[in-house]
Amino acid sequence: MSLSLSAEKPAVPDDADDGVWLECIECGETFPPFEDVRYTCDECGGLLEVRYADLPTFEDFDGQGVWRYAAALPLEAGVTTQEGATPLYEVPRLEESVGVEALRIKHEGMNPTGSFKDRGMTVGVAVAKELGVDRLACASTGNTSAALAAYGSRGGMETLVLLPAGKVAAGKIAQASLHGARILEVDGNFDACLDIVQELAAGGEAYLLNSLNPFRLEGQKTIGLEILEGFLADYDAVPDRIVLPVGNAGNTSALYKAFRELVQAGELEESEVPKLTGVQAEGAAPMVEAIENGADEVRRWDEVETRATAIRIGNPVNAPKALPGIRETGGTAIAVSDEEITDAQRDLAREGIGVEPASAASVAGLRKLRAEGVVDDDERVACLTTGHLLKDPDAAAAAGHDPEPVPAETEGVLEHLQS
Ligand code: F0G
Repeated sequence: MSLSLSAEKPAVPDDADDGVWLECIECGETFPPFEDVRYTCDECGGLLEVRYADLPTFEDFDGQGVWRYAAALPLEAGVTTQEGATPLYEVPRLEESVGVEALRIKHEGMNPTGSFKDRGMTVGVAVAKELGVDRLACASTGNTSAALAAYGSRGGMETLVLLPAGKVAAGKIAQASLHGARILEVDGNFDACLDIVQELAAGGEAYLLNSLNPFRLEGQKTIGLEILEGFLADYDAVPDRIVLPVGNAGNTSALYKAFRELVQAGELEESEVPKLTGVQAEGAAPMVEAIENGADEVRRWDEVETRATAIRIGNPVNAPKALPGIRETGGTAIAVSDEEITDAQRDLAREGIGVEPASAASVAGLRKLRAEGVVDDDERVACLTTGHLLKDPDAAAAAGHDPEPVPAETEGVLEHLQS
């Protein structure tokens, strides 16, 4: 149970480089962090985590954005476009209609490329430089490809992205294209793209920057650290619960890791750790199935479908890290329909917050869990919204309403307004 909240601080192995090493979450094998390219355990194929000899407390953080948290990251600095420091919006009407003590929206769509992926890439691309690779690759439902293309370009590296043909929102392809990624449209879903890119990476064709890459998740930990600091500043307490959309379960794993490290550092009581609550679309809900069945493993769904194309994923590769995160924090997982997702997108829009469909899943899930009585009315909750409205202009237009044609003269416009 190395992923338990009560795990002791790990012993520092000989493989550590300046107090940083990689450790398999299954068999405990350790590896030096920056000597060779490695995504999973050489011994057993398990997922790897970055481990540290020294774990920081809140006092060790300084500055703004992802690199404020350098003391919790494997490098001092990254390839950056000033990611992180996203707003933690108040939503008084939504808070009232959902019926919780406090609701805040952590809008990750406010990152440079419009999604939380930037937090992982600022670290991941810097590690790629450290390793001396020159070509980066990912499979993506869109946002990862946009972030990889932008950060790869900034780092002066070639980028290759594999996307499921016809299932990626327009804004995301436009970003990958303009930032110069080579875009391969695969006749298959995201999971097929990930299978292929993993094989390409194993063959040395490119450095893999999907969330299977443990360094990316280090950057994404900073979402959790920012939420905690924001709640401590405003409520003098950390949130009771964090609700987030789940695809590959990278964020779920990263937030859990951030909290485990704070507990190990003595900064947070185990009992204070926010309940991690995952939300998936009904048409792509293998994590929800595993949580509901009390299963230790997730069954891969071969057929997946949802309007929230960002989370149209049937094989959440980080499940071995995320399932303990949901269970150990006393959280849960729930599936929502596409209609519930669109309704939540409209709810957020009424508060002035523009998000893509996958992001709205968090709010849809919270509403449903509150209605079912799983979430109490005295809870303080943070919902994560992961991507910006402009990522998926077609979904936004479909959820909104049509423009009204009018003549090009004031009289006619007035008549139209009065009719
Ligand atoms: N929300 C958005 C907007 C996403 O783009 C993703 C994942 C998720 C949620 C799920 O996050 O994987 O950490 O559970 N998008 C990936 C991509 C798969 O390729 O852009 P997760």
